[in-house]
Parts: sequence; structure tokens; C-alpha cells
Amino acid sequence: MGYTISTLITEEEIDRRVRELGAQISKDYEGKELHMICILKGACFFMTDLAKRIEGTVTFDFMSCSSYGAGTVSSGVVTIEKDLEEPVEGKDIMIVEDIIDTGRTLSFLKQVMEEKGAKSIKICTLLDKPDRRVVPLKSDYVGFVIPDEFVVGYGLDFDQVHRNLPYIGIVNFEK
Ligand code: IMP
Ligand code: MG
Repeated sequence: MGYTISTLITEEEIDRRVRELGAQISKDYEGKELHMICILKGACFFMTDLAKRIEGTVTFDFMSCSSYGAGTVSSGVVTIEKDLEEPVEGKDIMIVEDIIDTGRTLSFLKQVMEEKGAKSIKICTLLDKPDRRVVPLKSDYVGFVIPDEFVVGYGLDFDQVHRNLPYIGIVNFEK
């Protein structure tokens, strides 16, 4: 199936918003140590760019899970593909995601972090598609609320490609 990609959010707009989020998070976590958990692979650029805009003590970990097969429709089943390296027990953690779609991935991950004994759990997502929510889930920090479109770039993929686009684009499928 053929498709084209049209710009939704430019590189400059992403940069500006990431700085704003960083400033807000720096304020909210003043005097605390923030443990950021990047959900691979989609959140890789967002997490690293955001972390640079946060003042104060920050630690990182990475995990990967999948709810999507090789398509644009969620399978509904979330599995952990790569687990954390550091314990989260007693830590103020922030789960950093690329996009919230159905909400299944993050509600699953939140529960996992609660079971692991995190002291506090916040969610920071670059993009939010609230129209698509199946499981009720609210993110504490949101970069951009977007319409119900399939998007790629700045970490987000379509069948593993287009993650390296510096902007976020809508995939227009040819009928
Ligand atoms: P959820 O569990 O349905 O909220 O799905 C979240 C995951 O689905 C994200 O981490 C993405 O990997 C993927 N996803 C959802 N919407 C999009 C999209 O528009 N473009 C690329 N990936 C998406
Ligand atoms: Mg994906």
C-alpha cells in the first residue's frame, strides 16, 4: 500500500515544547531525584532531549514492550520485551512514552511500577490521541494532543521505519 507523509509538528515546535516541559518538570521535582523510564524504541529522542532540559538530579532506565504487531492497529495484549535494569522501589519515577493511543500500554506499565514499589509514578507522553482511548488513562505531562491519525517521526515508526524523521508527520494512506 502506498502512502505519503505530511508534516503535523515541526522540529522547531517539538524543541520549544520539550523545553517548556523540561522547565515545568524541573519545578515540580525541585529537591527530588527523578528516575526517568524510557519506553523504547519510540520515546528515545523525546526522553533524551527532555532529560537535557531538566535541571536537577536525573537517572535513566530503559524498557521495551509491545502492544502493536506490524501494523497500525493495536493487538490489545501488552508484553515486556526488555525489562528494567535498575530497581524502581522507593523512587520517584516518570514513565516517558512516545504516544498514548488506546491507553493499554501505559495502564499496564503503571500497574507494573506500582507492584514494583515505586514511591511515586508520573507519566510524560510526547503525543496524546484521546479520541482512541479504550482504557481510561491520563498523562501528567503531555507534549501535544493530536487528532486520530497515524503519525511517524521523532522516534515513532510505521513498521519500524521513519523513526529518524526530525519532525512528526501524518501518514496518508492511498486508497
Ligand atoms: P496504546 O497501548 O494503544 O496506548 O499504544 C501505545 C503504543 O502504540 C505507542 O507506544 C506506539 O508504539 C504505538 N502507536 C500508537 N499510535 C501510533 C501512531 O500514530 N504512530 C506510531 N505508533 C503508534
Ligand atoms: Mg511502535
